[in-house]
Amino acid sequence: MKYRQFGKLGITGSAFGLGCMRFNGKASGDSVIDEEKAIALIRRAIDGGVTYMDTAYVYLDRTSEIVLGKALQDGYRDKVTIATKMPTEWVHNREEMENLLENELTKLQTDHIDFYLMHGIDRKKWEYFKSIGAPKFFEEKKREGKIRYKCFSFHGPYEEFEYILKDYDWDMVQIQYNFMDVENQAGKKGLELAGSMGIPVVIMEGLLGGRLAKAPANVQALYDSFPVRRSPVEWAFRWLCDHPQVATVLSGCNEAEQIDENLRIFDTAEPGIMTKEERELMDRVRQAYLDRTKIGCTGCRYCMPCPNGVDIPGMFAAWNRAGLYETDPKNDFDLQQIVSRDETARHCVECGACEAACPQHLPIIESLKEAQAFLGV
Ligand SMILES: NC(=O)c1ccc[n+]([C@@H]2O[C@H](COP(=O)([O-])OP(=O)(O)OC[C@H]3O[C@@H](n4cnc5c(N)ncnc54)[C@H](OP(=O)(O)O)[C@@H]3O)[C@@H](O)[C@H]2O)c1
Ligand code: SF4
Ligand code: SF4
Repeated sequence: MKYRQFGKLGITGSAFGLGCMRFNGKASGDSVIDEEKAIALIRRAIDGGVTYMDTAYVYLDRTSEIVLGKALQDGYRDKVTIATKMPTEWVHNREEMENLLENELTKLQTDHIDFYLMHGIDRKKWEYFKSIGAPKFFEEKKREGKIRYKCFSFHGPYEEFEYILKDYDWDMVQIQYNFMDVENQAGKKGLELAGSMGIPVVIMEGLLGGRLAKAPANVQALYDSFPVRRSPVEWAFRWLCDHPQVATVLSGCNEAEQIDENLRIFDTAEPGIMTKEERELMDRVRQAYLDRTKIGCTGCRYCMPCPNGVDIPGMFAAWNRAGLYETDPKNDFDLQQIVSRDETARHCVECGACEAACPQHLPIIESLKEAQAFLGV
């Protein structure tokens, strides 16, 4: 296992951090996690050299912190740093912040949290949290030794990321990043900005939640054309580790084989690990994925709102995801949200208002029919 610098903090951590968001139940579809298996997986990762554990109050129906706390008994707590998160949807005042942190410490069976993150904030939420005294709370808890580092995780656009990052003295930030998200969310610009400020960056969704673990045929052909053979997972992680600003790459593993493979991959996970030819290969791989794009919708939302309640950009984004990564639409969380809000294309009455507003001049009506059929919703 390689250990990497955490920017200005003057500490190191394992290049591979274990995400505790994806443990399974005993049987398929079982919502209660298989605790024994999860504990064994966590300890297997730590025995293999992992020192960074990522969880959150809300993960796995609020049981992830409890399982992690149990796994870290018998001397394991001292071998790792814990990152957990404040559920920003549920906190409205100082008292709730206090109670929640105490509850998390109890669930984790520890007297301190190393990295305490505001979970998934955007600019609006950050302004709100400033107004209810979150910065003062973080500083007091640091002084009391209950948290070591004040951090946030982020999924919004770059402009909001830049604003939040520069607005407070953050110790670490967690962003979604992988070779397909170079220009999405915080993106490469955000990674480099944090790096230039000495703020360590922890990566989530390095495999896009598993979507990059299996390559479609045109992508696999590119991997196969390279003189050195590696799995898609290894290519994706090597690409991330090449970036010097990256402190830890999180991955949520459900099987011992995945942990073992990732331990092997992160044995050589140094900044600057990729050759020029390897970087060029990954640029071609990205393009090969993008060639599978179903529709060039930019998500600008000029077509919205649809008078009949169709989530037009949402339908197109789901269509593109399924086309790019050959994933089952039934497992697409955002698409299932559209279905549950009853905003699918079946409500389109072909009024044409959206097409008149679309700056890309997309044939929205016909495309929605295709998307609907492809996604089977
Ligand atoms: N703060 C936030 O808002 C937020 C959001 C997302 C994630 N996170 C955190 O970040 C962590 C990492 O994100 P992530 O779980 O989405 O990471 P990821 O690495 O993109 O996806 C994990 C999935 O990749 C697959 N995988 C991992 N290693 C593999 C291997 N060696 N071979 C084949 N497949 C492999 C598994 O998919 P299968 O299950 O299909 O086998 C696994 O569930 C999470 O666990 C969570 O702790 C935080
Ligand atoms: S054409 Fe269909 S999708 Fe477009 S605005 Fe009219 S009802 Fe909505
Ligand atoms: S206006 Fe066109 S490009 Fe913009 S979100 Fe709607 S369909 Fe997509």
